Amino acid sequence: MQQTPELSWEERYQAHNTGWDRGEVSLNLIQWLESGVLKPCRIMIPGCGNGYEVLTLAKQGFEVVAIDIAPTPVKNLRKALADAGLTAEVIESDFFDLDFRDKPFDAIYEQTCLCALSPELWQKFETWLYDSLKINGELFSQFMQTYREGGPPFHCDMEDMRQLFDKQHWKWVNCNESQIMTVLNNKMEIPCLLRKRA
Ligand SMILES: C[S@@+](CC[C@H](N)C(=O)[O-])C[C@H]1O[C@@H](n2cnc3c(N)ncnc32)[C@H](O)[C@@H]1O
Repeated sequence: MQQTPELSWEERYQAHNTGWDRGEVSLNLIQWLESGVLKPCRIMIPGCGNGYEVLTLAKQGFEVVAIDIAPTPVKNLRKALADAGLTAEVIESDFFDLDFRDKPFDAIYEQTCLCALSPELWQKFETWLYDSLKINGELFSQFMQTYREGGPPFHCDMEDMRQLFDKQHWKWVNCNESQIMTVLNNKMEIPCLLRKRA
């Protein structure tokens, strides 16, 4: 059987093939903000997409750096920020081409980004996240649970996640696996807060 060639992220946005797009800010982010766990700081959002979270964080006084490789969501997000009179740095780039070690972040908010990457890239992504954070910087992640082969989104098995974000480099501050949030298309994600160790 002939395989359909995989679409690029930009092609998916142009075809409105964006099942991951909530159309609004994630409930997990609202919970982290309302509970005071996440307070205004310098924060990065890799693979931000249309970036509803970028708007929310910018509005609450965060210094936000948002990155996406696809031009369409970058353009949408820049327009949404301008329309709302808000400021954030939106970078159109492959995040692996960016090096923030000279100005690391207090926090990173990762939403449907790890699970969007092929698992062969996960170790590289973990290292890049680690390098992009200050010591004691925090990673707010949401591990996608699809319970099936293939992707994207790829299943983020929690044992695999604990090996990937290993105890030597990360303190698992809070990861309530019973607190599974339902997202679009009946997929679920587990919100976890990890802190970078020295
Ligand atoms: C599944 S989407 C999630 C978008 C957004 N986080 C959301 O929840 O709506 C994954 C996003 O990561 C972006 N992306 C994938 N690989 C990337 C890379 N290497 N560098 C930057 N962005 C990337 C894609 O363009 C896409 O917008």
